[in-house]
Amino acid sequence: MDTTVIAIDGFASTGKSTLSKRLAAHIGFTYVDTGYMFRVIALLVLENKWLNKEEITLAPLTAALPELQFSWLSQKEGQKLMAVNGKVYGEELRTAEVSNLVSKVAAIPAVRTHLLQQQRDLSKSASVVMDGRDIGTVVFPDAQYKFFLNATPSIRAQRRFEEMQDKGIPGTYEEVLANVIQRDQMDSSRAVAPLKKAEDAIEIDTSSLNVDEVFALLCDYLA
Ligand code: DC
Repeated sequence: MDTTVIAIDGFASTGKSTLSKRLAAHIGFTYVDTGYMFRVIALLVLENKWLNKEEITLAPLTAALPELQFSWLSQKEGQKLMAVNGKVYGEELRTAEVSNLVSKVAAIPAVRTHLLQQQRDLSKSASVVMDGRDIGTVVFPDAQYKFFLNATPSIRAQRRFEEMQDKGIPGTYEEVLANVIQRDQMDSSRAVAPLKKAEDAIEIDTSSLNVDEVFALLCDYLA
């Protein structure tokens, strides 16, 4: 089956997931949130205490990876939810604890190798809008469409802080800004599949644009 991939990469809190979800619904594609996949593994590290002080203990994590199978659960109206060994995760993936650990998890080569294969498999049966950090560079270097979203760190932290307040997730603006800056640094400097714009990606600076304006731009490029 011939499928189409729209890769939407970029920095944290640039609106990637909101826009990717909306775009997928608009054009009838499946939305794949690859950050969710890394966050699930970060949560498992916390739950299973695969940690020695601040460091992740690799042996139990790498032993558990082959058992971690990501799949689709069909919902009504064609919606799909991503399940991990049959379980669907929600807001427990958005806590500060998970956000603080996830870049470390994402820098582990064995984690990236496992998720790369899962991401490719999830896209075999359907056209997808996939958001992440390395979709246009590593996961699907031949994606038919590639976008790279950016915005200043303070604007991204403000957006994330407001979202957390709406959802009742605790944390201050200063903590969120520190986490955004730290994650940018870790995601951009890791050895494997660092966050960077693919040469052929279209870059959109969303600092002074609202979601509707960015959405309109994406639709214009696809038209
Ligand atoms: O998009 P997000 O904030 O949910 O992503 C969580 C973390 O996972 C982020 O720090 C970077 C990492 N990530 C990655 O390295 N590669 C991806 N394709 C997606 C996310």
